[in-house]
Amino acid sequence: MSIEVDVAVKLDIDPLAVLAERIRHRDARVCILGLGHVGLPLLVTVATAGFPTLGLEENEERACALLERRSYLHGVADSELANLEVVDVSTDPAILDQAEIFVICVPTPLTQQTPDLSMVVKAAGDIAGHLRPGCLVILESTTYPGTTEEVVRPILESSGLQASIDFGLAYSPERIDPGQGAYRIDNVPKVVAGLSDRCRDLATTFYLSFVRDVVETSRLRDAEMAKLIENIFRYVNVALVNELAIIARELGVDIWEALDAASTKPFGYMRFAPGPGVGGHCIPVDPSYLSWQAGQRLGYRIGFIEHASEVNERMPEYVAIRVAEVLNGAGKSLQGARILSVGVAYKEGVDDLRGSPSIAVMQRLARRGAVVSYHDPFVPRLTWEGNELRSQPLLEETIRAQDCVAILTAHPGVDYERLVRAASLVFDARGVTRGIDAPNVVRL
Ligand SMILES: NC(=O)c1ccc[n+]([C@@H]2O[C@H](COP(=O)([O-])OP(=O)(O)OC[C@H]3O[C@@H](n4cnc5c(N)ncnc54)[C@H](O)[C@@H]3O)[C@@H](O)[C@H]2O)c1
Repeated sequence: MSIEVDVAVKLDIDPLAVLAERIRHRDARVCILGLGHVGLPLLVTVATAGFPTLGLEENEERACALLERRSYLHGVADSELANLEVVDVSTDPAILDQAEIFVICVPTPLTQQTPDLSMVVKAAGDIAGHLRPGCLVILESTTYPGTTEEVVRPILESSGLQASIDFGLAYSPERIDPGQGAYRIDNVPKVVAGLSDRCRDLATTFYLSFVRDVVETSRLRDAEMAKLIENIFRYVNVALVNELAIIARELGVDIWEALDAASTKPFGYMRFAPGPGVGGHCIPVDPSYLSWQAGQRLGYRIGFIEHASEVNERMPEYVAIRVAEVLNGAGKSLQGARILSVGVAYKEGVDDLRGSPSIAVMQRLARRGAVVSYHDPFVPRLTWEGNELRSQPLLEETIRAQDCVAILTAHPGVDYERLVRAASLVFDARGVTRGIDAPNVVRL
């Protein structure tokens, strides 16, 4: 227990009021649990705001890298870590003794199509073992409504302390947009909810120390749902344009021209682009959290989400078949064809391969006998069926040596016009070549 809180308890002063004061003075010590795509940028932001900041990261390699001020994420530069003061990182939960504010940023994947909260449970258990009066626990991991109250709260209260009386409990989803430099933690409104008004106020005071706007919801589950709505919206709309792209081709419609034209409507429309599928840790995973919960509680799953999954998961196969057709049209067989995939990351501007649909397309092409290689400015190497593959430089002779170039991830900084000029055949699954009038290009 810190001296201030120890004294507060003896003098019968509200320990949460003491914490609020310490947050205002930015001397409350913050520990981020899980230093990945969400936790590491948060650690940098919180430390830069002047809070003494700690990290609990169970991956030893990552913890060591951070202690040496080396970043393992594309979006966080070594220089950002070098300038941080008072940052300590450990794999040992004992570090939690040194903090009053705990922010949980651990993964929430699906295991066998079922929400897997084991890492949230583990993190909450670690905190419970070190919880003292006057602490604040915030869950940032994406999850289904009710998790903070029904899963995290009982674990924390197993410490013998009571939420909202002895310690604060809040939920605040992360809304960063990986690869899009314009949207950062500090300039995207932060949704915040607490178990009670005082829990919410504590969390809001904390976040307003480093974000411009906070949007409060009345209940924890409303904030949990808000994050899912955002991702379901993306998921379902991507599925919609994917399905329309498949149908458009059968109807002789150029989906890209049609979408570009529809996008000129200044109200009531938001542009989504078709592609080889949906990847990453969030968009393909989070909708299933809600659909699964509806299944458990209401006895039926959410039709929109289930259908969107079906369409999006079919896309890598559809794209692989289209590539085979394109080769066929040029009198070539997929068997033995050299195919260069341009982009392997799950989306543009990132080095993240988790659930990448571009990789899924490459696997399907390789399985049918194609000789696949790749170029990705963000992914210098990757492990491919036990071997290491390296990103090929986009030299004229490399491009010319291919039977087909498949544009699967629309990274910035690639000269697509030059690519089209040098290649014998291009299949563009991302629409980046529209506007380039060339007979050797086929678009999704
Ligand atoms: N990546 C995104 O763009 C994004 C955006 C918004 C929300 N989210 C959500 O944020 C959460 C975290 O996602 P992420 O992308 O940062 O995951 P990540 O895999 O990049 O990082 C998670 C880190 O947590 C560590 N970890 C796991 N269990 C731990 C534990 N018990 N204690 C300490 N460390 C632990 C892992 O070793 C890893 O380094 C997920 O719920 C995700 O859905 C992610």
